[in-house]
Amino acid sequence: MPQSTIESILQEKRLFHPSAEFSQNAHIKSLEEYQQLYDRAQADPQQFWGELAEKELDWFQKWDQVLDWQPPFAKWFVNGKINISYNCLDRHLTTWRKNKAALIWEGEPGDSRTLTYAQLHREVCQFANVLKQLGVEKGDRVGIYMPMIPEAAIAMLACARIGAAHTVVFGGFSAEALRDRLIDGQAKVVVTADGGWRKDAIVPLKEQVDKALAEGVPTVQNVLVVKRTGQQIHMEPGRDHWWDDLQKGVSANCPAEPMDSEDMLFILYTSGSTGKPKGVVHTTGGYNLYSHITTKWIFDLQDTDVYWCTADVGWITGHSYIVYGPLSNGATTVMYEGAPRNSNPGCFWDVIEKYGVTIFYTAPTAIRSFIKMGEHFPKARNLSSLRLLGTVGEPINPEAWMWYYKVIGGERCPIVDTWWQTETGGIMITALPGAIPTKPGSATRPFPGIIADVMDLDGNIVGDNEGGYLSVKYPWPGMMRTVYGDPDRFRRTYWEHIPPKDGNYTYFAGDGARKDEDGYYWVMGRVDDVINVAGHRLGTMEIESALVSHPAVAEAAVVGKPDELKGEEIVAFVTLDSTFTASDELAKELKKHVVGEIGAIARPGEIRFTEALPKTRSGKIMRRLLRNLAAGQDVSGDTSTLEDRGVLDKLREGA
Ligand code: WT7
Repeated sequence: MPQSTIESILQEKRLFHPSAEFSQNAHIKSLEEYQQLYDRAQADPQQFWGELAEKELDWFQKWDQVLDWQPPFAKWFVNGKINISYNCLDRHLTTWRKNKAALIWEGEPGDSRTLTYAQLHREVCQFANVLKQLGVEKGDRVGIYMPMIPEAAIAMLACARIGAAHTVVFGGFSAEALRDRLIDGQAKVVVTADGGWRKDAIVPLKEQVDKALAEGVPTVQNVLVVKRTGQQIHMEPGRDHWWDDLQKGVSANCPAEPMDSEDMLFILYTSGSTGKPKGVVHTTGGYNLYSHITTKWIFDLQDTDVYWCTADVGWITGHSYIVYGPLSNGATTVMYEGAPRNSNPGCFWDVIEKYGVTIFYTAPTAIRSFIKMGEHFPKARNLSSLRLLGTVGEPINPEAWMWYYKVIGGERCPIVDTWWQTETGGIMITALPGAIPTKPGSATRPFPGIIADVMDLDGNIVGDNEGGYLSVKYPWPGMMRTVYGDPDRFRRTYWEHIPPKDGNYTYFAGDGARKDEDGYYWVMGRVDDVINVAGHRLGTMEIESALVSHPAVAEAAVVGKPDELKGEEIVAFVTLDSTFTASDELAKELKKHVVGEIGAIARPGEIRFTEALPKTRSGKIMRRLLRNLAAGQDVSGDTSTLEDRGVLDKLREGA
């Protein structure tokens, strides 16, 4: 986090209350009501979650136990039978919502499409039958590598309908990254498009799939291709099929498969501080409940709302808060293919005006870029339909919060700053907008049923306003169940940083935080080797591996440097193989190489060539020192463990 952000957060004292009108009409209407819910959930979490599961979802068969907790492995709603696609679609068809807009889609070039619940149900059933015809069975994995088009959501729901787990790979990832994920998840089918529109250019998705499969991904038998952009692509006979050809004439009758509550719903890969990205596993029943109830209470969904989350379905935010949460609630969810771009910097405001969006959920990095573009873009549009705003992905600096509140929200919309992670499945710390007054820069309070705290590494709760580690002391329904194929990594990464005591396990989130005297949480950012660039989570080690796979690179150390717009920027310290010499061209080539290995989101902002990296006597790279150096801070103190002080002088000279 930039130093200026930390300082302004530490001084922040303002408090914003929702209007009386907002509170009166909200699902949770007052601080007292929140506190009662919270206390009740804390006193008996299983009773709390059990009642909600019964009231909010449709089950084919009721569970016989709410929670089976064999730390750190949890089973929720044991032996319950449920299908999330049924809860997102079928159950609305017997109500007036049958012909309500489920999905409003806006393409970047200006084309658009609206699917009612009945229409979405039909498409999902047909595509589920297509998957079945291609031999996809319950328990199989399906890779989804798509632009932001309705077919992405249709494919996800179709997988869920027949009990195949999807693994969505963000369309900005490279062929290499896609390949790794398809191999790890042993995908049987890949669903993609010829291309997608992003910033007035075509993202050649199918071409990337071809590259990913060229070296052989043995499990993949079929590739299904949506025609989106219409450019020339290669279609491999026998392997590749057009979505439209297969969808034509297929039966729209496909009953939802009764799934066990703990059957895998999806795998989603995310970066950690060590090793390759982890396949985060989410299961059916608990995830359905958690994404449903958090969407309902945090976004205060009402039947008249038009809800828009600007995330990509390639991230967990897209899973929980574009697709599953809103649809399970019978809401109207907006999906937008594009991104603010030179040819239309105000495109987000166009979408809000065009569809009368009432709830808008985006990332701090986007807000900061809107500030930079200028107020005249949002001011040129009618944003009076908005009634609630949200942010997610990284800490929001109070200045950006205030701008969002005034310029976008017209000082009438509460802001929910929602802290959570791929691993948590849904939002964990947030305001409930009608109940909890907000402070700019604070995610405020834990969601009912989330027993969180700020601790030291021994598991002691630290005092008010003292920094510590954000932790959760009790399982919750939306939590990840394991790392795909590596339960031991799951245990080590999340449940052993804070040593278990007397059989009590604590979830370690990897974020630093403090809690103030009002019980409000202030999340300060990652405490591990994960960096957050424009809300995208990247492991330093992943980028280092990408760099050393280039023949010129001997060793690499990657750190984050505070950036006013993106939150953090990637700085790579690189030593070269003796047959190469440092040059601007080589720096460019290395950046390109990282983009090829991981994707454009991992492009280093800066490559610094150096003769050696600073190491301790035991050979560990001193990242803290590099971080300070990258941020332009003084590094003369605290270098006693440095093996060779000369390295430091050279690094300083190089800067
Ligand atoms: C990391 C999780 C699931 C949301 C999208 C990112 C950071 C997320 C906030 C927030 C401060 C936040 C944390 C977290 N983060 N939301 N409101 N305030 N930090 O999901 O890729 O799994 O990243 O994003 O550092 O650990 P993700």
